[in-house]
Amino acid sequence: MNPSAYPLEQIAARVGTPFYLYDAALLRDSLRRMAGLAEGAGGNVAIRYAMKANSARRVLQLAREAGLWIDAVSGNEVLRAARAGFPLGADPPVILLTSDVYRDNALEVILRHGVMPNVGSPGQIRQLAQAGYRGPIAMRINPGFGHGHVQACDTGGPSSKHGIWHEDPILVASRKLAADSGLPIVALHAHIGTGPNPREFDGNVRRLVDFFARLLPLFPDAVAVNFGGGIPHPYRPDESAYDLAWLEPVLREAVTRFASVRGRPVRVEIEPGRHGVAGMALLVCRVCDVKETRSNEKGEGHRFVMVDAGFCDLVRPAMYGSYHHISIVGQGSRRAPEPLVVAGPLCESGDVFTRDAHELLDPRLLPCPDPGDLLVLHDAGAYGAAMSSNYVSQGRVPQVLWDNGRATRISRRETVEDLVATECDEALPV
Ligand SMILES: Cc1ncc(COP(=O)(O)O)c(C=O)c1O
Repeated sequence: MNPSAYPLEQIAARVGTPFYLYDAALLRDSLRRMAGLAEGAGGNVAIRYAMKANSARRVLQLAREAGLWIDAVSGNEVLRAARAGFPLGADPPVILLTSDVYRDNALEVILRHGVMPNVGSPGQIRQLAQAGYRGPIAMRINPGFGHGHVQACDTGGPSSKHGIWHEDPILVASRKLAADSGLPIVALHAHIGTGPNPREFDGNVRRLVDFFARLLPLFPDAVAVNFGGGIPHPYRPDESAYDLAWLEPVLREAVTRFASVRGRPVRVEIEPGRHGVAGMALLVCRVCDVKETRSNEKGEGHRFVMVDAGFCDLVRPAMYGSYHHISIVGQGSRRAPEPLVVAGPLCESGDVFTRDAHELLDPRLLPCPDPGDLLVLHDAGAYGAAMSSNYVSQGRVPQVLWDNGRATRISRRETVEDLVATECDEALPV
């Protein structure tokens, strides 16, 4: 997104800073291309949008209009998808609920709305049966391999908490438990992680096709196989975009192979989150100050650009050392680039947007802004607002949708009243 294509100062005058700006045209386009993948792969393919990446109602509505299904992680995600118009129930299972642990209302949502659970542990099978659930289930399997831009995002292999290990006796015991509990396993699932490398992703999806072709005969009720999400997004300017055309033949091959293994059609699914939404958003913040430290025996001095957004608004750099491209909008943008550290308002030294994966400062070559300029963090649509928090009682920032020359506030800034709305003083009869 080119920041100069949007009236950022005018929007800031309306909603204050920081704010998220979403471009509806870009979003529609990427959702449409993802939906097109299903047709390109010859039908019998479902594309779920992993709504954990961005669960704003307008984003969900546009995903529904594009014809996508939903990958949800919590009871509340299911209910938010329903509010955006996605049908509940399991026939067809438009919403799939993949949670590692049932908490809050997850079991209640499954029981009341018939949403299909994707179980990731034997205990979850037991809990479903004990709760009285007697419907179809999907089974998430850890295939023993995976990839990630950091260890935390590698969701396959022995160090991953996700899914049921693929080998016996664990797998056979889980199958038996489901059968004994009267829960037919109608779908198999694996999500093996999210990395930056397109070829690694492609290679691992191909491995999943082989993996599930071997496994399918053990699951006579299975009518669907889901390869999870993880389609990369190019966060760095020198990275090339993932071409969905690379995935099309892999999905087509999966449809053909699974049908021949099974002797009847098997629906193939993927559930990308980041790929659909990362590139449609900017996090726009205000430069509040520029200050310096000096080198001494403890290390090198730095020039800090202090902005009003922090890891409460966009946590990926602080959490994973993730890279977000940065632009300056304002007087300072014409200066020659110099190494700058961009830091936020929180009382944490790690509240820095220019960090590497080892928690070290990673000064960025940028024109030094003036206080009052805007600083824009790019590609902030996935795991941005969705992972934001109220740390130090900051209100979550507004989300603004830019659609055909018009700006619409789709969520407002949280106030202190929002923050204290759940506080109470109730005696508990224990
Ligand atoms: C089960 C599952 N599916 C899909 C996704 C989406 O991953 P991505 O946003 O990288 O496509 C995730 C991400 O955590 C996940 O855990």
